[in-house]
Amino acid sequence: MADTGNSNRENSAPLNGAGALGASAPAPDSASAPATREYTPRFAHIVGWGYQVPSKVITNQDLEQIVDTSDEWIRSRTGIAERHVAADPKETTSSLAIAAARKALEVADVPAAKVDLIICATTTPEYSFPATACLIQDALGAVNAGAFDLSAACSGFVYGLSMARGQIIAGDAEYVLVIGAETLSRIVDWTDRETCVLFGDGAGAVLVAASEVPGGILACELGSDGSGGNALILPAGGSALPTSLETVSSGQHYVKMDGKAVFRFATRVMANATRRVLERAGYTPADVDLVVPHQANLRIIQNSVLNQLKIPEDRVFVNLQKYGNTSTASIPIALCEAIDAGKLHPGDTVVFVGFGAGLTWAACCLDWRTPVERRSTDWWKATRRQATYGAAAARSVFKRAVRWVYDVLPTDPEAPAREDVRERTPADGKEAAPVKPREKS
Ligand code: UT7
Repeated sequence: MADTGNSNRENSAPLNGAGALGASAPAPDSASAPATREYTPRFAHIVGWGYQVPSKVITNQDLEQIVDTSDEWIRSRTGIAERHVAADPKETTSSLAIAAARKALEVADVPAAKVDLIICATTTPEYSFPATACLIQDALGAVNAGAFDLSAACSGFVYGLSMARGQIIAGDAEYVLVIGAETLSRIVDWTDRETCVLFGDGAGAVLVAASEVPGGILACELGSDGSGGNALILPAGGSALPTSLETVSSGQHYVKMDGKAVFRFATRVMANATRRVLERAGYTPADVDLVVPHQANLRIIQNSVLNQLKIPEDRVFVNLQKYGNTSTASIPIALCEAIDAGKLHPGDTVVFVGFGAGLTWAACCLDWRTPVERRSTDWWKATRRQATYGAAAARSVFKRAVRWVYDVLPTDPEAPAREDVRERTPADGKEAAPVKPREKS
């Protein structure tokens, strides 16, 4: 993480006595704090963006061939017409995320080595661990970055922006990549018409940068209600219900959803979260130039953003007809498309708002300052960038090879060769079979 030498801790606004920290917390000792230290206020701006979706498109008509549904039902109940699906097994959450992240870095014209933190919000991580964010870090060659996955379902991207803003304002990071990436098609039951028609795959990424220019991400509002966890859940595969023949044969490794309950929850929290975040940023719904809502269902967006908040349709960006619900990726993909469509301009007040499993919700308000016009591609820069990704791949292979060598060679030359090391079983004290060196993976 970058050390900016610009810690704001000693200089933060005075707290209202010890009570502000809780009854038993000691009050800060103002006498021992440095009397005056100059510091520059920091702001967190989105300076790069990119998205990637798989090439395979599944239309509502295609779904009519698979489950008992109709194009008319799906369009009228959700607004969705088609979705992109990772049909190629090589297309995974990380491969989509890496492509989106590279585009975001390119737009920002920032090399991966400058990134301090990678946050990958996802409900379909590559593995339980390691974090998908670490796979992304390796592929980008982001050698100075911390990396972690964020699990807040469809609200995850906005949660990630909030984390990025916090890191930047605290002075702990200069550049944070926030990614929402999903391959939901891999956890959807393609025989369940109540869920399979809704979801799609894709990834969106933004680069958040520290700046002294006022604006950027002004306020965030995060919320949760775990009592509604069962309304949208992947029951098996975790520690509560480890994968077994039984869980697989009963389809517990697929998404289960109480659609109506999620619908009711979503329409309530979307409007409330937007109101609260606007209030915190000093705005009202009338000041908003663009809302980029979670793209789950057109009726949810109409009910909450248009009807409850009275924000006109031309200020709300919707692209769910093309992608379905891509969970954590839906807001960043929509942001990219809104920019491409000329819907976003420097000086605009922008709101991202989402909801999802958990149950969770999140909203953030931005004072957008970054120029959005496309820059012409510099051939030399693009070639150099590609070369750094090639170098990242080579570095990764080299490091794996070094690990493999360490794995097969005894580290202590005095120690017996691994073939000679014998384990003792605690039960009978007898010698067990020799421990074989690990196979090459
Ligand atoms: O990121 C968060 C993810 N989740 C969500 O956003 C889900 C939020 N909920 C929703 O979007 C809506 O509740 C759904 C789109 C899932 C369902 O719409 P609905 O208007 O709430 O429909 P419903 O569940 O009340 O179902 C109405 C009927 C039922 O038939 P009966 O019982 O009335 O005979 C369903 O069985 O529609 C039937 N149905 C379908 N029919 C054709 C459910 N799914 C389908 C389908 N095709 N795909």
